[in-house]
Amino acid sequence: MLDPFGRTVSYLRVSVTDRCDLRCVYCMAEDMTFLPKKDVLSLEELDRLCSSFVDLGVRKLRLTGGEPLVRRNIMSLIRNLGRHLDSGKLDELTLTTNGTQLGKYATELYDAGVRRLNVSLDTLDPQKFTAITRWGDLAKVLDGIAAAKAAGLEIKINAVALKGVNEDELADMLAWCGSLGYDMTIIEVMPMGDIGNEDRVDQYLPLSLVRQQLAQRFTLTGIDYKTGGPARYVRVEETGRKLGFITPLTHNFCESCNRVRLTCTGTLYMCLGQEDAADLRAPLRASESDEPLREAILEAIGRKPKGHDFIIDRRSSNVAVPRHMSVTGG
Ligand code: GTP
Ligand code: 5AD
Ligand code: SF4
Repeated sequence: MLDPFGRTVSYLRVSVTDRCDLRCVYCMAEDMTFLPKKDVLSLEELDRLCSSFVDLGVRKLRLTGGEPLVRRNIMSLIRNLGRHLDSGKLDELTLTTNGTQLGKYATELYDAGVRRLNVSLDTLDPQKFTAITRWGDLAKVLDGIAAAKAAGLEIKINAVALKGVNEDELADMLAWCGSLGYDMTIIEVMPMGDIGNEDRVDQYLPLSLVRQQLAQRFTLTGIDYKTGGPARYVRVEETGRKLGFITPLTHNFCESCNRVRLTCTGTLYMCLGQEDAADLRAPLRASESDEPLREAILEAIGRKPKGHDFIIDRRSSNVAVPRHMSVTGG
């Protein structure tokens, strides 16, 4: 699948639910209204949609949420999608998770063909963790991550850099990741969705500053490592692990974008930071043949925009993209 700017789309991110058992302050409002269950595609429909994308050339599938592992029966979808790994059509089937359910699912995930997980974790301080997630229990997440490691899954920790919240802790987190054999990615906070009282400008921390700070304690060497995601990586010489920086605000990576996002209602967003979308639920339900669906997907890819609309600017509206991050799972 080739977009109008010559980029090949080979990575599909699928938000299997907009629900989450946490409410991270930069992601959701405390009193979120979630989609009515009747609007959400069944797991069979999600499988059919994902499989159409795989047939059209997607090589990497990432399930996201909300929190993907709170969706009932999610393992049945993951196990079914695993058949595309067996047939060689898919290179990677993976998840981005908040880790709360990993204790329960780690082994099953490995058995279904998942080999790598990205776990969102912004702090190692239990009180801070509860403040960021509004009620999360850090110990449960750490146990979940340990279970995933024990099951043989490779782990990358995703931390959103939050000014005045975890900026003083990122170096310790990097050391912790190194000691346990995890990679880490640090992410600039993106202005998405109305999240209540939090002010993105106050939360925003450019990663150039974070990198300078980390470089005082670690030797960071640029490397040519690619996962197909947006991070730019360095090797942390002291630990031998990789550290990625995701910098949509300060260093746009749109020119090499290879991904699109599907919501749990069958809406396809061609860019995280843009509102333009295509409805795939109608063609999915209109016919038992996959042809109308394939046509709708290709039409949508033909409209993929050049780049996102994010800005962090106190003078203009704070929210460039009104939908919440949890609708597309980042
Ligand atoms: P890897 O496969 O490990 O590279 O993962 P990934 O970075 O593709 O996925 P993950 O779900 O861990 O996402 C990490 C962060 O990158 C999240 O905050 C996403 O919102 C953000 N992200 C992923 N793709 C894009 C993108 O196309 N544009 C923007 N602006 N952010 C993105
Ligand atoms: N800006 C940047 N990253 C975010 N995430 C959620 N909301 C935001 C935001 N506003 C991150 C989560 C998770 C990933 C999917 O997206 O922490 O790691
Ligand atoms: Fe849930 Fe992830 Fe959003 Fe936190 S960032 S509320 S864990 S979806």
